[in-house]
Amino acid sequence: MKRIALLTSGGDCPGMNAAIRSIVRTCLSMNIQAFGVEQGYKGLIEGKLFSMESKNVANIIQRGGTILRSARSEQFKTKQGRDIAVEVLKKNKIDGLIVVGGDGSLTGANILYKDYGVKVVGLPGSIDNDIYGTDMAIGVDTALNTILKCIDTINDTASSHDRTFLIEVMGRNCGYLALMSAIAGGAEAVLIPEIPYDIEGIIKKIKKRYEEGKTRSIIVVAEGVGSAYDFGKVFGMIGGFDTRITVLGHIQRGGCPTIFDRILATRLGTAAVEALVSGSSGVMMGLQKTQVVQVPFEEVFGNKKRIDSKLLEIAEILSR
Ligand code: F6P
Repeated sequence: MKRIALLTSGGDCPGMNAAIRSIVRTCLSMNIQAFGVEQGYKGLIEGKLFSMESKNVANIIQRGGTILRSARSEQFKTKQGRDIAVEVLKKNKIDGLIVVGGDGSLTGANILYKDYGVKVVGLPGSIDNDIYGTDMAIGVDTALNTILKCIDTINDTASSHDRTFLIEVMGRNCGYLALMSAIAGGAEAVLIPEIPYDIEGIIKKIKKRYEEGKTRSIIVVAEGVGSAYDFGKVFGMIGGFDTRITVLGHIQRGGCPTIFDRILATRLGTAAVEALVSGSSGVMMGLQKTQVVQVPFEEVFGNKKRIDSKLLEIAEILSR
């Protein structure tokens, strides 16, 4: 293994830079030439590769986003696009590829591995935490901390005005961010796509809390369940609450990575290079019970990550 290329793809997340730094410096320590690919698969198709030295990754571990930049490539979803990408890898004599990204990006990596025989290792990088095979993906912890800071801030103004706030968080079809931030933020209710919700039951509970002297209510809405604005209208009309909506949006994707994300990205980055060098391919590096493990792509894509039912139970008990 002489030349390894790396790319970041799909939605960016805090910690991608820490992963890039770790991959490049681990490569250098093993006398492997690292090549950064700009703008994910789009850049790969366009041949945007450049050789990376230690100085290219200096002073980036604390920065959110990705210095390699990212993209959602429509062309890579076509066979013609992937054929070009593989040609670029061959032309540049790339022996192994590391892909840092979410579900869609790792699906692309799996196709390169299965259909083209590219030696590829994936790293889970997505705030959604919807990837099977890893307890935490890179970026999740930072996003949760960002969300929590917002919930705490909104709490102040909500309490002053006896208001009911609906806070919409990201996560695509996964309710992980919503559930965890609802528990940690002391929310009255959480709406997530994985479980049916009972609006009337929530309204009853909130009314009771107000009668008991509570001066605010927070409802966390996962984007995958619908728009917080639509739910807000329902809660306002049926519940008669003074309702306000906050959609957190892309603020959740940026910012300085937490220590958890920096260490996770660093550990997974090193492990990805070591995996390629030892002959592994078609695997994702994941974190399971604090240990870094190799998870075959077929296991990653053959399973669905589930919400921990105990956490659902805790959220329900604590919001009563
Ligand atoms: O997958 C990460 C994510 O931030 C999702 O939570 C969200 O639904 C989506 O990406 C937003 O994508 P974009 O940045 O392309 O609007």
